[in-house]
Parts: sequence; structure tokens; C-alpha cells
Amino acid sequence: MHLTITLTTTLLSTLLSTSHALPQTVVNPGGITNWTVTNFEIGCSPGGCTYNFNINGPASADVGPAFSTYCSGTDVQQKLVPCGDQNVQANLVPTTQDGLVLVVNRYGAGINGNHGIMSGNATAAPAGEPAYPSFVIPAKFYGDIFIDSKK
Ligand SMILES: *[C@@H]1O[C@H](CO)[C@@H](O)[C@H](O)[C@H]1NC(C)=O
Ligand SMILES: *[C@@H]1O[C@H](CO)[C@@H](O)[C@H](O)[C@H]1NC(C)=O
Repeated sequence: MHLTITLTTTLLSTLLSTSHALPQTVVNPGGITNWTVTNFEIGCSPGGCTYNFNINGPASADVGPAFSTYCSGTDVQQKLVPCGDQNVQANLVPTTQDGLVLVVNRYGAGINGNHGIMSGNATAAPAGEPAYPSFVIPAKFYGDIFIDSKK
């Protein structure tokens, strides 16, 4: 049985801010899947900061096979930016409590043909501290964005 919950408007708009698909409100939240960030680098100049990293994660029944990709962006973008694998998107968010928080979304087709979204975040650099070169992002499945019409 699938546990049915309703996402808050805020969470949905955050997760889907760069998606063109209409959100479904019924989701099947999954357990935590660890995504591994390596070679995380950040470089700042008076014009702003740029960051880049590699990320990989295992296969998911909800969003597709194992993945590995390279992401880069700047802190002036302030939005989710597609990585080399465009189904993966990242945003580096400055927070007062947790320092620089790396938010990563992953979209893709699951084994049932539905297109789902997973999302997670983790501190990449505590406030005033250097960035961690590698860390783990605990990601969760947040539901299907569109449903396979052939079912
Ligand atoms: C995910 O990573 C955390 C922290 O590194 C670890 O404690 C946990 O056991 C990992 N979970 C899985 C399912 O690998
Ligand atoms: C990180 O994820 C948690 C939920 O796990 C959420 O409450 C929090 O707002 C997220 N942080 C950012 C910066 O998106």
C-alpha cells in the first residue's frame, strides 16, 4: 500500500520551480537514498561565487537507473540549474543556520513509466567555513510529476 500525503504548496513550488509539468498532489514518499557529492569546489570573487561538483547515486525504482554527472553554477543564479545530465538540477542556497546548502533535484521515469522527482539537500560549507570536498545528500522521492497514460 502506498501512503498518501499532500505536499505543501511551498514544497511543491520549490521542487517544481523549473519544471514545466503540472504537479500531482498525491505522492508516495520513499526512504532515504544517499547521493554522493565529490570534488565540490567553490571559488569567490567580488562578482560572486562559482561552484562545481560531481554527484552520483544508485538506481531508484521511482526515477530511473544509477546516475553520475557533473554540475556547476554560480550563487547569483539563485535557481535550480541543470547539470550535465539535465535530469539532475542543483542550486547552492545561502542560509543563516546551515551555511551554504546544496539542493539537488533528480527527475526521471520509474519502473512504472511515471516521471517522478527526488530531492535532497545538505550543507556544503558551514557558515564562515571552507566547503567540504565531499559529502552525502540524503534524498527522498517526492512523487510523480506526470503519470504514464498507457496504464
Ligand atoms: C546514508 O548516509 C548516512 C550518513 O553518511 C549513513 O548514516 C546512512 O547509513 C546511509 N544510508 C544508506 C541507506 O546508505
Ligand atoms: C532541505 O530539506 C529539508 C527537508 O528535508 C527542508 O525542510 C529544507 O527547507 C531544505 N533546505 C533548503 C535550503 O532547501
